[in-house]
Amino acid sequence: MQNLIFSKKTIVIGVTGGIACYKVLVLIKELKDLGSDIHLIMTEHSTHLVDIKDFEKASGNEVQTSLFYPKIDYIDYIKKNKEIKHISLADIADLFLICPATANIIGKMANGIADDLLSTSITATIAPVLICPAMNVKMWKNPIVQENVKKLKKLNYHFVEPEYGELACGYKGVGRLANLKKILDRIGLLLKQRNDLKGKKILVTAGATFEEIDPVRVITNKSSGKMGTSIAEQAFLRGANVILLRGHNSVEPNYNLKEEKFTNVDDLYNKIKKNINNVDIIVHSAAVSDFTINNKEKSKIKSNKELHLELTPTAKIFEKLKKLNKEMFLVGFKAECNVSEKRLIGSAYDILQKANAELIVANDVGKKGRGFDVDTNEVFVVDKDKNVEHIKLADKRIVADKLLDIILQKIK
Ligand SMILES: Cc1cc2nc3c(=O)[nH]c(=O)nc-3n(C[C@H](O)[C@H](O)[C@H](O)COP(=O)(O)O)c2cc1C
Repeated sequence: MQNLIFSKKTIVIGVTGGIACYKVLVLIKELKDLGSDIHLIMTEHSTHLVDIKDFEKASGNEVQTSLFYPKIDYIDYIKKNKEIKHISLADIADLFLICPATANIIGKMANGIADDLLSTSITATIAPVLICPAMNVKMWKNPIVQENVKKLKKLNYHFVEPEYGELACGYKGVGRLANLKKILDRIGLLLKQRNDLKGKKILVTAGATFEEIDPVRVITNKSSGKMGTSIAEQAFLRGANVILLRGHNSVEPNYNLKEEKFTNVDDLYNKIKKNINNVDIIVHSAAVSDFTINNKEKSKIKSNKELHLELTPTAKIFEKLKKLNKEMFLVGFKAECNVSEKRLIGSAYDILQKANAELIVANDVGKKGRGFDVDTNEVFVVDKDKNVEHIKLADKRIVADKLLDIILQKIK
């Protein structure tokens, strides 16, 4: 029976050379019944374990196995500057499923190897990728395989882990392909999340401001922009129309996002004003300088004498935002350093009230692995009723996704 979440969704299934290959036939049938369009890429090794024709019959589409299409004269195409579609399945996927996933494909993915059609397409896709490993227990427990899984999880690849049981190779242990119902449920969850921000316009600010002392020196802070850029990236992957404003030295986003760079506090404020109309959500995670320099010099200051800087507190941009657009959902960040959880949440709530914001994301940047210039974060999300949701220490991409889940629950 057709299902709203699965219906008209394109699922690309990468089949690799594991004994569990044949089980994918059942999965294809179930997905087709739910209304999904199924395309298959099979590795060369997997074609020794199942009949391609069975997969073509089940999916109703031609199975792809080769990076180079036999009917195409690539030399002629290149000479005549004709468009070559070698990663088209990567582009059309709403979800990329690797099932069963061998130790080999997991290793290739974890190391960015793209040496056949499947690994090249995975490298080129921006769709969520769900990996369902199946292998001998000794292979699964191999520390290199486990390291690769860990690495991929950190990068927000999704897994349905193998289960314990009798293995086709005669062993007993963890390595059996997960129950197909479990895989189907996870596909449903990912498809739901994939476009849940479609139609929403989100403005995200990220990174540090620069306040000039002279033409070469600045006051700035340790913000790398990783948290904000991760939020912009995840929102983009979930279908939002994203505008990212990021500091000049911040990390670059991984996707082709609409973005503008800012320099100092005034420049950031002007760029927010320019972009804030019609946004549904603003996530202001930029680390804005609290001070600007009064005695700024037009030429480079000589370093042979003592220098005293006069600093004036800057206007609090965050507190002005709601006045610029009353309808939008306002999310801010609050960084504290080595304070108690109670104090962290208390100061987050204070700025929430001052700015009339909907949510404040509070983090303690004094603790290891949290806040500035690291890949991980732990945050407490405080709302208007002082409810607090704790997002545990995880990669910033995962924290970003969980924060977007919370925002979505509130705006629905
Ligand atoms: C009969 C047979 C069954 C295999 N089953 C598995 C398996 O279940 N999981 C796995 O990781 N590798 C399995 N392998 C090993 C892979 O096929 C091998 O590592 C291969 O290089 C995988 O290539 P691919 O990932 O490009 O398909 C099996 C090999 C054979 C010959």
